[in-house]
Amino acid sequence: MRRKLAAGNWKMHGGAGDLAEIAALAAAHPSPVSEVLICPPATLISRMAEAAADTPVEVGGQDCHAETKGAHTGDVAAGMLAEAGARFVILGHSERRADHGESDADVHAKTRAAWDAGLTAVVCVGETLEEREAGRTLEIVGGQIDGSVPNGASPERLVVAYEPVWAIGTGKVPTLDQIGEVHGFIRAQLVDRFGAGAADGIRILYGGSVKPGNAAEIFGVADVDGALVGGASLKAADFGPIVTALDAAGA
Ligand code: 13P
Repeated sequence: MRRKLAAGNWKMHGGAGDLAEIAALAAAHPSPVSEVLICPPATLISRMAEAAADTPVEVGGQDCHAETKGAHTGDVAAGMLAEAGARFVILGHSERRADHGESDADVHAKTRAAWDAGLTAVVCVGETLEEREAGRTLEIVGGQIDGSVPNGASPERLVVAYEPVWAIGTGKVPTLDQIGEVHGFIRAQLVDRFGAGAADGIRILYGGSVKPGNAAEIFGVADVDGALVGGASLKAADFGPIVTALDAAGA
C-alpha cells in the first residue's frame, strides 16, 4: 500500500510570520493517515523544520543544484537542504523548466544529487496546453520521465508529480478521466522501467489548481496518490481540508 502524500509548494511566498500556519496545520491534523509535506522558500526551511519538529509535518526544498558545492552563486546544494532539515526536494517544476531553462538532463542530474544527499525527489512532469491540444500529452510526459528520472528509483527516493502546465494557478483542472489516463500511463511506465516491485510503491501526485472543493473527487481517481498543491497550501485553513480529503481516500 502506498501511503498518500499531501505536499504543499509555497513557491516564492511566505516569511517567518507564516510559520504559524505549520502549527495550525499540525493542530488540526495531529496524526494524519497521509504524509504531509510543506516546501517553503529555501530561506525558511530551517525555521520551518524547527517549527515542525514533533509534528507530523515534513519539510522540503523547491530545487537544488546538481553539484555538492562550488562556485555557483545563488544556488543551494542538496546536502545543504538536508542539513537545514529538508527530507524532500521538488525538482523539475514547470516554473523552473520555463524560468530557468531546466532540461530533463538537468533534472536527472539534480535528482541524482538529491538521492546522494538522502532526500526524496519529487520530480515534476506535465504538458502545456498546446501539447495537449496537439494530442501529445503522453508522449511529452513519457519523455520527461524517461529523461528526468535516473536508474535506481525506489519508493523511498522518488515521488512523481503530474502537473499539467495549463492547470497551474489557473483554476482549470483536467477531467477525472484525463487525470486517470496520465496517472495510469505513468504507473505503467514506472513498472516497465523499474519493475512492479518498486513501481507499485512510488507515489504519483496530481498538481494544478487542487482546492478544498475539488480534492476529494481527484483523490478518487486510480493511481492518484496525493497532491502537489500551490496556492491552496499557503493557509492551513485551505490545506487542512485537502489533507482531510486525502486521509479519507487513504483510510
Ligand atoms: P496551484 O495549486 O497554485 O495551481 O499550483 C500547483 C503547483 O504548481 C504546485 O507545484
